[in-house]
Amino acid sequence: MTKHKILLIIGGGIAAYKALELIRRAQDRGYEVTVIMTKAAEQFVTPLSVSTLAKGKLYANLFDPHEEMDVGHIRLSRQADIVVIAPATADLMAKMAHGLADDLATATLLANDRPVLIAPGMNPKMWDHPAAKRNRAQLAEDGVHFVGPTSGEMAEANEAGTGRMAEPAAILDAVDGLLRPSQHGLLSGKHVLITAGPTHEPIDPVRYIANRSSGKQGYAIAAAAHAAGAEVTLVTGPVHLNAPEGVEVVAVETARQMKQAVVDALPADIAIMCAAVADWRTASAADQKQKKDGSGTPPVLELTENPDILHHVAREADPRPALVIGFAAETDHLIEHATAKRLRKGCDWLVANDVSQEGVMGGDTNSVHLIRDQGIDAWPKADKQAVANRLVSEIIQHFQ
Ligand code: PMT
Repeated sequence: MTKHKILLIIGGGIAAYKALELIRRAQDRGYEVTVIMTKAAEQFVTPLSVSTLAKGKLYANLFDPHEEMDVGHIRLSRQADIVVIAPATADLMAKMAHGLADDLATATLLANDRPVLIAPGMNPKMWDHPAAKRNRAQLAEDGVHFVGPTSGEMAEANEAGTGRMAEPAAILDAVDGLLRPSQHGLLSGKHVLITAGPTHEPIDPVRYIANRSSGKQGYAIAAAAHAAGAEVTLVTGPVHLNAPEGVEVVAVETARQMKQAVVDALPADIAIMCAAVADWRTASAADQKQKKDGSGTPPVLELTENPDILHHVAREADPRPALVIGFAAETDHLIEHATAKRLRKGCDWLVANDVSQEGVMGGDTNSVHLIRDQGIDAWPKADKQAVANRLVSEIIQHFQ
């Protein structure tokens, strides 16, 4: 792997001790690590330990007369390929969301133009606080990438919930995922066909059956596949997203239109069916808006099954794409249901996501299991672009 540079910001939380392991493991993977510690972080790990592991590349002071001679906070971010914050405390995230810059860490972040990956680590009550939710929504909108937090026992006695910082290996997997798309060209010559978003099934001219899919996961995969050099066709249901650059977008509304667009776009080398296709539509949509008739009795909607696009691509398309990847949105018995779905639909890989989790369907993060013949891999919770990048990396490896 090319030697990439990580600028690691260690925040002041109990999980700061894991930052030492993170530095070591990052170096094992060939990364060069420079560290900024906040004042609070120094309460949890000693600058001497960090400096020793980081081979002296440790900075802490915004007003260091030597470092600031050449505007150190600007230089530090410019020298990095990615900025990683671990642990990202509630305080640090709040400062980032509001653009505060009162120490070296926050001044560097405000002056930064590199990708930022944060590994939040805090008490579950803080993570669930409305202010913390507002701040992370703002950070996601600003393009900040997330890995974790995970659920489990906290350092505080009798406290459990979501808030544990992701493990160093998971953080580095996310870093790999974000930096790998720079391996441009590895999918060149391949046609990747992707579906994304929901379908809308009309009830009458003004009403429809839909679901909460935003299209973000499928669009992120399209962007990652394009970045890897593929020719990408994205068949999308109705969403509020900009078309990814360089991707051919076919916009549809219903499942039947989506199936037709997919059939028209074949042949493909790789098919990734990420859309949340409505399983049913109304048996016959009304031509006129349905009105209340004053009887108090609501109309009965008769439903009929939609075509199964993934099943068609995996089992009937001729020529069949060499790699067919389905998704499964489950709310319970994730692995059991998704494993059965992979066999039923006939796809090669299946990406299973638990849509009962906050932020998966419609949101910015996903935590998935990749189910293949060779086994099941659990990926840490991360933002959808990181999940997409990793999926594309797996595809690249598959074809190498
Ligand atoms: O769009 P986002 O907000 O980013 O959310 C992403 C997501 C949660 C929607 C996505 O990651 C996901 O899980 N997509 C699949 C949703 C789904 O419809 O799952 P399913 O278990 O109902 O379907 C299984 C597979 O069959 C999917 O690949 C689906 O595209 C496909 N399918 C389903 C029904 C149908 N009639 N035709 C299909 O092709």
